[in-house]
Amino acid sequence: MSKPTIMVTGANGQLGYELVRELSLLGNVLPVDIEELDMTQPDKIVKFMRDYKPNIVVNSAGYTAVDTAEDKSDFAMQVNGIAPGIIATELKKSGGLMVHFSTDFAYDGNKTTPYNENDLVNPISIYAKSKVAGDNAILESGVKHLIFRTSWIYGARGRNFLLTMLNMCKERTELSVVNDQFSAPTWSRALASGVGLVLGQKQAYEPSASGIYHITGGGQASWYEFAVQIAKYYEFKTDHRVAIFPVSTGEYPMKATRPKYSVLDNSKLNNTFGVIMPEWKLSFNHVMQDMGYNNPAKGIFPKLK
Ligand SMILES: NC(=O)c1ccc[n+]([C@@H]2O[C@H](COP(=O)([O-])OP(=O)(O)OC[C@H]3O[C@@H](n4cnc5c(N)ncnc54)[C@H](OP(=O)(O)O)[C@@H]3O)[C@@H](O)[C@H]2O)c1
Repeated sequence: MSKPTIMVTGANGQLGYELVRELSLLGNVLPVDIEELDMTQPDKIVKFMRDYKPNIVVNSAGYTAVDTAEDKSDFAMQVNGIAPGIIATELKKSGGLMVHFSTDFAYDGNKTTPYNENDLVNPISIYAKSKVAGDNAILESGVKHLIFRTSWIYGARGRNFLLTMLNMCKERTELSVVNDQFSAPTWSRALASGVGLVLGQKQAYEPSASGIYHITGGGQASWYEFAVQIAKYYEFKTDHRVAIFPVSTGEYPMKATRPKYSVLDNSKLNNTFGVIMPEWKLSFNHVMQDMGYNNPAKGIFPKLK
């Protein structure tokens, strides 16, 4: 059986990096980032797709600077809203599969129980609007697709909350962190593994499997709760204690509005593909162990209660 060509865009990003590693088990991975293919250039996207003829495109490229996007809406829309539709249209012609990443920010955050895929989107920032436009462009193209909607991606590399917090811990003894926005931290590697498990199944390529799937770390947290865990591990390694104080969104204004509650229900993923995403705290423990922030007194895994 010939191996599929799997083009991974955004290959240098935090998720793309892990996808390249994971999906190499399934086919010939073609890693692509802005240097090879700039998503703001439609003609180049079309040419690239025709030159390389991927069977699957896993589009993890994105304009992900949520606050900056408020002032760069054209740019965010080109990368997040328009480019996915161009890729999808090309793939539709060749019968390929489009795998794409959407965001929990697609929802407005007014619910108080986890969102499922039938809930209506109502994006409340420029970034979120551009991402929803990308989802819609894929749906409208008629391509075979898997749109994975995820949240709060972090890992040992890239730009993310974990690494920002660790850097701040070096300089500070006190930090204030927002305690009224809830979602689920999602380890980039666990997410890539989940996607790999789906793409390893024949049914993923059936038109009947096409759709939106929620895929996030299990459980939920506020940014404050996430920060408390980070500070705890930081203290294990350095003996430097950083006190984390909860504040409201109103006390810590940011340019882009974020949903107050965007926890996603992963049931459809589990029911369709049998994939269970690990609890976020379990994944978080792995990341911190790998980064050397372990707690020698407790062993590799925290003791069961
Ligand atoms: N991060 C999250 O919490 C989160 C949550 C939900 C959904 N998502 C979605 O998941 C996907 C992956 O996110 P991530 O956190 O891995 O993002 P990331 O680390 O920012 O990676 C995105 C990659 O896309 C590249 N890129 C940006 N503009 C581009 C352009 N014009 N042409 C080609 N490539 C370009 C970036 O390059 P540069 O580094 O040079 O800009 C980067 O390598 C994105 O679609 C994002 O919207 C993310």
